[in-house]
Amino acid sequence: SPFKNAAVLSDSYSSEASELADIEWDNLGFGLLPTDYMYMMKCSQGGNFSNGELQRFGNIELNPSAGVLNYGQGLFEGLKAYRKEDGNILLFRPEENALRMRQGAERMCMPAPTVDQFVEAVKETVLANKRWVPPPGKGSLYIRPLLMGSGAVLGLAPAPEYTFLIYVSPVGNYFKEGVAPINLIVEHELHRATPGGTGGVKTIGNYAAVLKAQSAAKAKGYSDVLYLDCVHKKYLEEVSSCNIFVVKGNVISTPAIKGTILPGITRKSIIDVARSQGFQVEERFVPVDELLDADEVFCTGTAVVVSPVGSITYKGKRVSYGVDGFGAVAQQLYSVLTRLQMGLIDDKMNWTVE
Ligand code: COI
Repeated sequence: SPFKNAAVLSDSYSSEASELADIEWDNLGFGLLPTDYMYMMKCSQGGNFSNGELQRFGNIELNPSAGVLNYGQGLFEGLKAYRKEDGNILLFRPEENALRMRQGAERMCMPAPTVDQFVEAVKETVLANKRWVPPPGKGSLYIRPLLMGSGAVLGLAPAPEYTFLIYVSPVGNYFKEGVAPINLIVEHELHRATPGGTGGVKTIGNYAAVLKAQSAAKAKGYSDVLYLDCVHKKYLEEVSSCNIFVVKGNVISTPAIKGTILPGITRKSIIDVARSQGFQVEERFVPVDELLDADEVFCTGTAVVVSPVGSITYKGKRVSYGVDGFGAVAQQLYSVLTRLQMGLIDDKMNWTVE
């Protein structure tokens, strides 16, 4: 057995894992499909995580006074596993997610698994659910590690106990547009993050904070919202669920990481890929006005991968990009990144883990 905790697995495991799940693989979107197993590991405040184990996927029990439910003491991560033609499964830079969770945990006063514990737990969870990893070209297995204050607290304080959990779901395209360009609206009243706040870590509250603007944008037919900085109200920050890049000629610009922007692992990978492809990449303050004469705009994220932006609307003015929004730069970078992630080209950077 590949599992440290083989004893907790049901006898049906080996037959389940050996075949592909019996689902319609052709039209996966980004919704939860319940899978077989999840990973759970606990830790008390001041202690270390230990004795993690796989359990059947299902509901979890929490004290109504749990820190995560009452005071939002929680973080999440997102990464993906791809099935190769030879049947092997590839993870993309899982140790980067482990490190980002550790940085976020420090900000949120939580203990976190070590990088080795995190990566090992991800591997065990993927292997236990391997029949849910889509066939090559049909999508990927989205892996969602969570870290939360699960112990009971009433007065405001860090929780006395923490739970690290991983669940997975097969996914396809994030946006309902599929691979077609998305249409964004710039939000100039509501903000996602403030200097000194938690915008730079993947805490759950950052995502609750964008739901109002996102819902309003979707009701008007936009795909998502692009946020501006809350001090000057003129520099690009990020989209609700992904980072943003602006292309002008051979120069690709993206907002610099400065505490209010999520340090995306796809963002960082695309910067390296773009430079290796001969582009000049600038991480800096990007004024919203630069959207007006950009050649192309695209978003990056684990869930969205590289999504071309077809149009952006700012204060009632709509700017469109490229021929039908499909920019050549986004296409090129998408192609190199996904071929790397799927094991179709030489991984010189050693980003993939089998
Ligand atoms: C991801 O891209 O993995 C994220 O965590 C974004 C989320 C809103 C789906």
